[in-house]
Amino acid sequence: MYITTLTARHFRNYDSLELDFSPRINIIVGANAQGKTNLLEAVHFLATGRSHRSSRDGELVKWGEDCAFLRGEVSAAGGTRCIEAQVPVAGRKSIRVNGTELRRLSDLFGIFQIVMFTPDDLQLIKGSPGLRRRYLDMQICQISPLYRHYLQRYNQVLRQRNKLLERRDNKSLLVWDEQLVRLGSVVIRYRLKAAEVLSSLTRKHYRTIAGGEEDLLLEYQPFWARDGEHPPWGEDEVEGIFHEQIRLVREDELRRGQTLVGPQRDDLVFYITDRPAKSFASQGQQRSGVLACKLAELDYMHQESGEYPLLLLDDVASELDDERRAQLFEGVPKQVQLLLTTTNLRPLMPMLARGQVFRVADGIIRKEGKGGQQDCFCI
Ligand SMILES: Nc1ncnc2c1ncn2[C@@H]1O[C@H](COP(=O)(O)OP(=O)(O)O)[C@@H](O)[C@H]1O
Ligand SMILES: [Mg+2]
Repeated sequence: MYITTLTARHFRNYDSLELDFSPRINIIVGANAQGKTNLLEAVHFLATGRSHRSSRDGELVKWGEDCAFLRGEVSAAGGTRCIEAQVPVAGRKSIRVNGTELRRLSDLFGIFQIVMFTPDDLQLIKGSPGLRRRYLDMQICQISPLYRHYLQRYNQVLRQRNKLLERRDNKSLLVWDEQLVRLGSVVIRYRLKAAEVLSSLTRKHYRTIAGGEEDLLLEYQPFWARDGEHPPWGEDEVEGIFHEQIRLVREDELRRGQTLVGPQRDDLVFYITDRPAKSFASQGQQRSGVLACKLAELDYMHQESGEYPLLLLDDVASELDDERRAQLFEGVPKQVQLLLTTTNLRPLMPMLARGQVFRVADGIIRKEGKGGQQDCFCI
């Protein structure tokens, strides 16, 4: 699937914007702080209903304005869809697909699938477990709206339960325990399954990138697993183990006033040739590992939905060396639409002939035509 046009009004540093994209390679070039990431953020918002870098929607509205508006036309095997978002500085955002307002944000998932790669993702292996959980969740959510629903309900239950624990109210806890275990087990089971598929896809890409000598494995590690403890964690066992674990930590939880069990404490562990990559991987191995993960994401979504998602690359070309950059571009299937940002066109020279270039300066974008520059936007 690919985005054909994007319209934005009062979004970040854009006053008004209207672009049409190439179904293949789109290169957005400009100096720092001109609006490159903001443009990708707009596309991310249309695909997921949220920003990838801010949890407060009001921040997306251009300073001094009341409301931001976005519209994207997305072409997929099933036809064309028009996604519109209205984001007020204060109050509820609303999202429409083909003119119909969505009741829940989760209804958006699956309609416009993306994979995003930012320099922060280079932290995936060595960074906090939260990053890896988000990586996994993001992908499952895009192919399974039901998962997103369970995850949201689980998080609500977790918040309620934490409130009770803070007040040391153990009388009402039992009801919440049941829900925590039931919903939490569903979340863990989804993630176990996704991690298994992603592991084999990532492994394949890593072999190509690292030259076949090394092996990369991903393993979902539930909160009860100790270091070095390996699966299989059978899907049927999850609920039983969770029940047992919640009983074991009861006193600790009351003392500390917070939930100590559940998928919010799980991790996705990377192993390179049987060693935990978090402690042992060199910087080169990490970069190759993250690259393999991103390429695996593309395969995963294609495998699950029959469509390739749109790939957003924010400034990663400058973070990767020549060889890895070439591997990244080679590993991206030809059908994938690419939106990539860069401060410098030079490392992307081999792609320029096939790519559409957009120049960004201070919230104004010019599309570069074959016969010189042509404006496609004016205030
Ligand atoms: N809500 C907003 N209203 C107006 N300008 C904003 C808003 N949010 C961020 N900006 C501006 O956007 C610019 C950053 O854009 P960004 O896309 O992150 O830059 P880059 O081209 O480096 O990726 C900064 O100049 C910042 O001040
Ligand atoms: Mg940027």
